[in-house]
Amino acid sequence: MASDYHEIYANWKLGPESFWAEAAHGVDWFTQYDRVFEPGVGVYGHWFPGGTCNTCYNAVDRHVEAGRADQIALIYDSAISGTVQKFTYAQLKDEVTALAAVLRRIGVRKGDRVVIYMPMIAEAVFAMLACARLGAIHSVVFGGFAARELATRIDDAQPKAIISASCGLEPNRTIAYKPLLDGAIDLARHKPSHCIVVQREQLSCDLIDDRDIDYAKAVAQEKAARTDIECVPVASTDPLYILYTSGTTGQPKGVVRDNGGHMVRLKWSMQNEFGIKPGEVFWAASDVGWVVGHSYIVYAPLVHGCTTVLFEGKPVGTPDAGTFWRVIAEHGVVGLFTAPTAFRAIRGQDPAGDHIRKYDISTLRALFLAGERADPQTIKWAEKQLGVPVIDNWWQTETGAPITHNPLGLGALPIKYGSPGVPMPGYEIRILDDAGHETPPGTLGNVVLKLPLPPGCLQTFWRADSRFRQAYLDEFPGYYKTSDAGLVDGDGYVFIMARTDDIINVAGHRLSTGAMEEVLAEHPDVAECAVIGVADAMKGQIPLGFVVLSAAASRDAAVIENEVMQMVRDRIGAVAALKTVVTIKRLPKTRSGKILRGTMQKIADDEEWKLPATVDDPAVFDEIAETLRARGIGI
Ligand code: COA
Ligand code: AMP
Repeated sequence: MASDYHEIYANWKLGPESFWAEAAHGVDWFTQYDRVFEPGVGVYGHWFPGGTCNTCYNAVDRHVEAGRADQIALIYDSAISGTVQKFTYAQLKDEVTALAAVLRRIGVRKGDRVVIYMPMIAEAVFAMLACARLGAIHSVVFGGFAARELATRIDDAQPKAIISASCGLEPNRTIAYKPLLDGAIDLARHKPSHCIVVQREQLSCDLIDDRDIDYAKAVAQEKAARTDIECVPVASTDPLYILYTSGTTGQPKGVVRDNGGHMVRLKWSMQNEFGIKPGEVFWAASDVGWVVGHSYIVYAPLVHGCTTVLFEGKPVGTPDAGTFWRVIAEHGVVGLFTAPTAFRAIRGQDPAGDHIRKYDISTLRALFLAGERADPQTIKWAEKQLGVPVIDNWWQTETGAPITHNPLGLGALPIKYGSPGVPMPGYEIRILDDAGHETPPGTLGNVVLKLPLPPGCLQTFWRADSRFRQAYLDEFPGYYKTSDAGLVDGDGYVFIMARTDDIINVAGHRLSTGAMEEVLAEHPDVAECAVIGVADAMKGQIPLGFVVLSAAASRDAAVIENEVMQMVRDRIGAVAALKTVVTIKRLPKTRSGKILRGTMQKIADDEEWKLPATVDDPAVFDEIAETLRARGIGI
């Protein structure tokens, strides 16, 4: 089938407002918006101002009213605990309404914030939707973050309540969440008035009188009382959620997503980009703590009337590298979305694809990969093993949906390995040099997006407009800076090569090396430090730390290295995965004192490197290479 992509993209360019007005028919509005786009308000304008809507209504109630009451909306499949639970749209509505009633009873109202710190259980989805129902703003914090990271987010979002659970399940251990939650509240200046806690059977926890509420008991009471909670109309431009993402310092950025534009964009993407029809089963094997989880586990499939799968487990080890195929076969998944790292992990354990042959995965039509660069080898392996198109797409927490894609629903374009496809409607991509000049096709440079950003992108940072402007909009006037370096080829395909800031992508998880450096620097024996991202065959990238010990440090370097790694685990979380720190005599710096991290990374990855002209003392690189060689790292 020939692709309609070029025609659709040209239509958008010709009339962006009429394009999005057409897409907005996919959403049920309580009151019609005044204008499709209003420039001059907010940081770069607002989408659908004047309209009122409710995201929970669109994701749940309208499907119940329109004949999907008995269709399965949510499948919770826990490969770790061996549990499968299914909820129809009618049951989903009951669960969400009851939890919304609990939230309302403790005083949560439209515009209040609620932090959600949960493992991958169905209640996490209910929690997000219950907030949306009330017009409250949720902020989901990934379960792999430690108490201090949670505390930072509590202080920034100032939630009235927190919804959490007694524990999370990792393949090798049960993680008690409650001590992390209590620890975070102790550390935070802001104190939420209530915590609603799901007691999981694997590990229960103590509840604090007057503050903590047993989730199951409170929900059961509201169900018994048949408390009805209507979907509260919110302005299209009101925030649906805040999602904190790594920035260039330890202070995370609170990405603010609106209600109206977000729904319009996600609904459009399901059909046109992912080629999924309402009623079909879609599975994003991610985590609700990340943007892929927000958009493609929860909101997009439900707004579209699909069945979504919430998977608690890992691609390997729960129990084996066949678990993904079991889920596809058992639930009839038609589209799977995950990070390339998951496929590298599977391929590592099952290179011949023996596990795949044990299951009937004939329902699967496509595999979508995002979150990090998809290496051509992994894509080709997956294509061969699965026999379906493997579609790389590029986006960021900030954009909430793909910037570039290969839009299957419009008709697939030829695949170019190493490219996450072409710009989706809403995005005009330019490649600029550091001085802001456009570069010829095929030249590497800063990837920027022409303003205004399309519906569904972040509106701003939570209560920090100027930080948003400064971080993204000031450097290249008229454009949003993605902080990705890449190129566009002569056919309009985009290639994303690297980040231009301190962000690294570890197993598809976005982390800041600057935040890790802040932790290392807190150790009393560390005089100076640097953290860089180095290549890893499975995780894509992993952090590698360097410390220079203070003159007063008298203990063994190995002891201090272990201590700083433990500090990162305790303060940022296990997800930071800092497993190697090496002690060196000094850091390579320019004459003006800037640490030459780029060259350190090239040495560690055994890439070709040039001596930076500005380096203070070139011998330092030999010292680093020697230390890494002696430790058997990289080179
Ligand atoms: N709660 C608590 N701890 C968590 C956690 C959570 N929700 N998620 C991860 N962790 C811990 C892990 O247990 C691990 O701890 P360890 O150092 O004690 O082993 C650490 O954080 C690192 O986790 P992870 O990066 O997931 O590595 P892994 O070795 O456990 O698994 C993969 C590697 C590739 C299998 C896994 O990362 C994966 O499935 N990735 C899929 C991609 C994905 O989900 N991307 C999200 C964006 S699309
Ligand atoms: P996150 O906000 O966690 O989604 O991470 C966003 C970053 O991940 C982007 O800025 C890119 O650096 C990287 N990324 C995401 N998807 C891709 C992709 N398909 N190809 C290359 N890099 C990607």
